[in-house]
Amino acid sequence: MSIAVYPGSFDPVTNGHIDIVEKSSRLFDKVIIAVVHNVTKKALFTLDERVALIKESTGHLDNVEVDCFSGLLANYLYEKNAGAIIRGLRSISDFEYEMHMAMMNKRLIPEVDTIFIIADTEYVFVSSSGVKEAALLGGDVTSMVPPQVKAGLEQKYRQIRG
Ligand code: COA
Repeated sequence: MSIAVYPGSFDPVTNGHIDIVEKSSRLFDKVIIAVVHNVTKKALFTLDERVALIKESTGHLDNVEVDCFSGLLANYLYEKNAGAIIRGLRSISDFEYEMHMAMMNKRLIPEVDTIFIIADTEYVFVSSSGVKEAALLGGDVTSMVPPQVKAGLEQKYRQIRG
């Protein structure tokens, strides 16, 4: 069985991520979306909220699971018996960072390859922080995030504004 892990912060998941997940789910028997528990990166959504939003947004994909991990990605890949890491590439500016990360992971766990999936052109400008900023300032993010995420953003910002 071919198992791929798609790791990331997903704070929050966007339609750009969903596009990558849909493409990956056609290439592998099982895709595990692994939300990183990163203590140094301040997140808007809690780990549980991020996992729940991804589950709701990928319910149409039978071979996709959602999980979270902390620590080294290489250890998590080993634990899950994964053969591939999925990363999305939106533009050339993503490439240098991604290449270094792929090389580091290759050194840490040589039996796993990083597979880059090119984002659809309509999502090349979409990022989680861009979406958060636009939503905070009242912009319409309907075309950039799943409906549950849009509702989640509205709720967060209502709480923040008081
Ligand atoms: N569509 C939309 N947005 C995309 C995207 C796509 N196709 N591809 C990337 N992005 C955006 C994300 O939304 C995120 O935006 P933001 O910075 O505005 O939040 C940004 O690109 C990158 O985020 P992400 O994909 O979550 O990567 P990351 O750099 O935060 O985390 C990990 C990458 C989790 C894989 C990495 O940190 C890791 O492996 N951590 C574990 C520790 C470890 O093993 N370290 C050694 C590895 S070298």
